Amino acid sequence: KGRVTVRDIAEAKRRGEKWPMLTAYDCMTASIFDRAGIPVLLVGDSAGMVVFGHESTLPVTVDELIPLTSAVVRATEHAMIVADLTFGSYQTGVAEALTSAARFLKESGAHAIKLEGGRRVEAQARALVEAGIPVMGHLGLTPQSVNTFGGYRVQGRGEAGEELMADAKALEAAGAFSVVLECVPAELAQRITDALSIPTIGIGAGGGCDAQVLVWQDMAGLTERPAKFVKKYADLATVLTDATRAFADDVVSGAFPAPEHSYR
Ligand code: KIV
Ligand code: NA
Repeated sequence: KGRVTVRDIAEAKRRGEKWPMLTAYDCMTASIFDRAGIPVLLVGDSAGMVVFGHESTLPVTVDELIPLTSAVVRATEHAMIVADLTFGSYQTGVAEALTSAARFLKESGAHAIKLEGGRRVEAQARALVEAGIPVMGHLGLTPQSVNTFGGYRVQGRGEAGEELMADAKALEAAGAFSVVLECVPAELAQRITDALSIPTIGIGAGGGCDAQVLVWQDMAGLTERPAKFVKKYADLATVLTDATRAFADDVVSGAFPAPEHSYR
């Protein structure tokens, strides 16, 4: 029945239905998440860490994310595919944001983009929406600002909570179809969720959000030291380590390949 659309997302909030989102960066895992029924997949700039081996999301470029996004789009039939605008690809203004976002839609087939920030990127968000590009916002611990925050820490405590609320309302007014709330107190996330007509997508933001997102490698147990907000649903690191050692042992002992793995 086709792809999930921004209208389905809006409808879910009206009905009070919660939904899951995962990151995806390649065809095989994206296909699994799609067939498992995840309605929205994010090709996040977390690829900086979990794909490219950087220490932050800052080095990631649009040129790097486009091929990953293409793979995720090709591998899926049902999910809406959202791509992250990377650090330095939208901050200077509306023209830069439009150029970067349009590249994702034209070159990878992404259906929407995500950008970090509230009122400071309100003009960009509005221009993209006016150009027909669905925009997902991202507030709280916005990793592209890690150097300003002085580390990956909870945002929006105390007075800062009202600033965050104002940013969320600005994104809604600009036409964003949803907003990620990362690492904010659960009580604040609940208040923002109640105040907005668009869905909030929480990550480390408590159970009051309309949706929840995790980086898939965190969810599946590949990440070495995941954050407190992560729940590990599998232990893929152990599964892969055991498989790798068994393969290596079989090669050394001569047990692999057996006749059934050989041609005659
Ligand atoms: O890049 C990413 O994975 C993200 C999500 C954690 C929201 O932005
Ligand atoms: Na991101």
